[in-house]
Amino acid sequence: MKISAEQEKSIIIKILTKMNVPLNEAEIVADVTSDADLKGFSSHGIGRFPQYVKGLKVGTIIPGAEVSVEKESISTALLNGNHNFGHVVTYKGMEIAIQKAKETGVGLVGIHNSNHFGVAGYYSDMAIMQDMIGIVIANTEPAVAPIGGKEPILGTNPVAIGIPSDKNYVSVDMATSASARGKLLEAARKGEKIPENVALDAEGRPTIDPEAALKGSILPFGAHKGYALAFMIELLAGPLVKASFGKNVTGTANPNVMCTKGDLILAVDPSKFVDTSEFKQNVDEFISEIKSEENIFIPGDMEVRNVKRFTENGISIDEVLLDQIKEISEELSVDLEEILSG
Ligand SMILES: NC(=O)c1ccc[n+]([C@@H]2O[C@H](COP(=O)([O-])OP(=O)(O)OC[C@H]3O[C@@H](n4cnc5c(N)ncnc54)[C@H](O)[C@@H]3O)[C@@H](O)[C@H]2O)c1
Repeated sequence: MKISAEQEKSIIIKILTKMNVPLNEAEIVADVTSDADLKGFSSHGIGRFPQYVKGLKVGTIIPGAEVSVEKESISTALLNGNHNFGHVVTYKGMEIAIQKAKETGVGLVGIHNSNHFGVAGYYSDMAIMQDMIGIVIANTEPAVAPIGGKEPILGTNPVAIGIPSDKNYVSVDMATSASARGKLLEAARKGEKIPENVALDAEGRPTIDPEAALKGSILPFGAHKGYALAFMIELLAGPLVKASFGKNVTGTANPNVMCTKGDLILAVDPSKFVDTSEFKQNVDEFISEIKSEENIFIPGDMEVRNVKRFTENGISIDEVLLDQIKEISEELSVDLEEILSG
């Protein structure tokens, strides 16, 4: 079936507030999650919501927990998320990064004791909306084997970079693995195969079976280059921010254990280098140059097209996911029918 983004948000907010999540936190989780679905990142949309509900139930997500500043300078901060929702912690982190960038030109925020935050690009978008450049990186539970190996040691380590412009949405938001782990989970849930050259099974053999891939490893994107980038992210979003790294990272895919991943987020105020409007004009000029042919896209185009498409046509919810949401709603006496008919 198809639902609107407003219905999706409503489902998430009603369920979370029934589970004693403060309304403002539920709203952030709902906004980030529906943003993922609208942009076409269904691997990180409402399909991940049952995982968050599980985390709340077992206590690995602690709603209402204070996001505390452990260490601070004029342009940096180290945050302890105290195991609140990753969405809430990273949102707060980017707010602080933007504030610091307004004052000093850059705001660099490290985060530990957080949780899975959904799509990285939501937070770099927060910077774009304030005419800032936003960069978000994070490590995750191991999923990717180093080139030459078969044991997962690196995370899918996403990176998002957003750049302000007058006429375009300029954003790259992606895993450094050949596929986001969420896409494997989604394929497994839907009983679909995964593309070739994306994953290996536990014996290190290429596979298109998502279940076998989840027991094995995902390949890095772009061979050694993706591996090298994921390697660097693992360190910048791990030991630098007091988070775990490598095989000690837990809790981004498995909600039953406390999450030990880390994030590093950066906001940069272009006006501290050049005139911001001139910078934005140059960004658009470059894009015009790039788009010399009809079939050329820029990073961010796919998201813009998807937002239009899914706003018009609705967001798909597969049978298995619908059943999971129905079960959660029934348990909490949330009237799903009322939301879906509204
Ligand atoms: N929370 C986490 O721990 C975590 C971990 C991994 C990934 N993720 C999220 O998963 C989502 C999906 O990641 P993915 O790796 O599957 O994304 P993907 O492979 O679909 O790549 C998406 C990016 O590539 C750009 N792109 C696509 N086609 C393009 C073209 N022809 N020209 C130029 N740019 C193009 C898109 O605009 C987008 O920015 C992201 O939102 C990411 O943040 C989150």
